[in-house]
Amino acid sequence: MASTKNLVSTLVLATLASSFFLLLQPLPSNARSLTSCNFDRIYQLGDSISDTGNLIREGPMGAATPFARLPYGQTYFGSATGRCSNGRLMIDFIAKSAGLPFLSPYMNRDGDFAHGVNYAVAGSTALTTEVLARKNIPSPVTRSSLSVQLDRMSTHINSICTTELDCLEELKASLFMVGEIGGNDYNYALLQGKSIGEVKRMVPEVVRAITAAVRQVIGYGAARVVVPGNFPIGCLPIYLTAFQTNNSSAYDERHCLKELNSFSKYHNNQLQQAIQQLKREYPNVVIVYGDYYQAFQWLFQNAQYIGFSQSSTRKACCGAGGDYNFSLVKTCGAPGISVCQHPNTLLSWDGVHLTEEAYKRMAEWLIDEILPKLHCSG
Ligand SMILES: *[C@@H]1O[C@H](CO)[C@@H](O)[C@H](O)[C@H]1NC(C)=O
Ligand SMILES: *[C@@H]1O[C@H](CO)[C@@H](O)[C@H](O)[C@H]1NC(C)=O
Ligand SMILES: *[C@@H]1O[C@H](CO)[C@@H](O)[C@H](O)[C@H]1NC(C)=O
Repeated sequence: MASTKNLVSTLVLATLASSFFLLLQPLPSNARSLTSCNFDRIYQLGDSISDTGNLIREGPMGAATPFARLPYGQTYFGSATGRCSNGRLMIDFIAKSAGLPFLSPYMNRDGDFAHGVNYAVAGSTALTTEVLARKNIPSPVTRSSLSVQLDRMSTHINSICTTELDCLEELKASLFMVGEIGGNDYNYALLQGKSIGEVKRMVPEVVRAITAAVRQVIGYGAARVVVPGNFPIGCLPIYLTAFQTNNSSAYDERHCLKELNSFSKYHNNQLQQAIQQLKREYPNVVIVYGDYYQAFQWLFQNAQYIGFSQSSTRKACCGAGGDYNFSLVKTCGAPGISVCQHPNTLLSWDGVHLTEEAYKRMAEWLIDEILPKLHCSG
């Protein structure tokens, strides 16, 4: 029988515990799943955040990237799949939550496209290679920008339906993911020396390319579209390394670069305004903003409570050198670079992309956030 003293200390502990948890933001319940939406297909447009194997199949340049070799893929697949992580990506967890298999990359000629297609290409941009070249911004690994991906999608859609009515019927149970895309337009510009002010001037054009893509998929018959925003790039090892400074006021309380994070917010705000406009234009289509920024911030703030190493939230697992275990000249996959012992206790896999565990947590947060907005009846 519990003594009074024990009961009191139990109550005290319970109170302490509950006030402790009040300090935390709510954790995703893990209970929600996308199965209630009854999606039969998912179509993904985007870049390395969601490429499940296109870049490495596209040509010799893609095949020569480190994404085609271990240690990429080592934790989950045991081999490289073209995913820019040690394992699965957010889109893999989204597909799983919807009760669907992994999305086959478009470039996989033996792929099974019965449940959708993944058009995302690592390194791709929202603006075309030509438009970027006119701004002296290189596209180092691929020319498969958003418009190229949309052309590929159009060919596929035309093969599954013919009339407009046909397509509406065929695609009403599909989920369309338009992005994340645009991050590389900014990455290439910033990392080759353009100022944040200059890059800010690209934002309206990048947002227009994304909204044009949303209009195009709606034209194909899309009924549910998720449009993700950009990450807080000032918290990523690549930017923390490239823009490292002794000026302490350049960092926020979590030691992320303030100006770069406000740049991401600037893009995300414009994107959200554009989405509001699209919703007015297409009242019968469900268009949802995917808040990757908040999802990542949540992860970053709660990392230590959900199994990540507290000391390494800003360190790459696969990389070498410097305060962030990242070097611009010797990145993951280069000779002599080793991998940390427990990749899934770190947020960053290679300084640019996240680990499987980080993507899994972000996907859970995101699913919780978007599910009510998708208005699935089931
Ligand atoms: C910061 O200051 C130290 C010591 O003065 C100097 O060695 C280092 O190069 C500086 N780093 C940057 C990024 O300016
Ligand atoms: C330090 O960083 C802040 C915030 O980015 C900036 O306003 C300030 O001009 C910087 N100071 C120096 C000496 O570079
Ligand atoms: C940093 O990189 C080294 C060498 O590549 C690796 O052995 C180590 O585990 C990494 N550290 C962290 C904290 O990820």
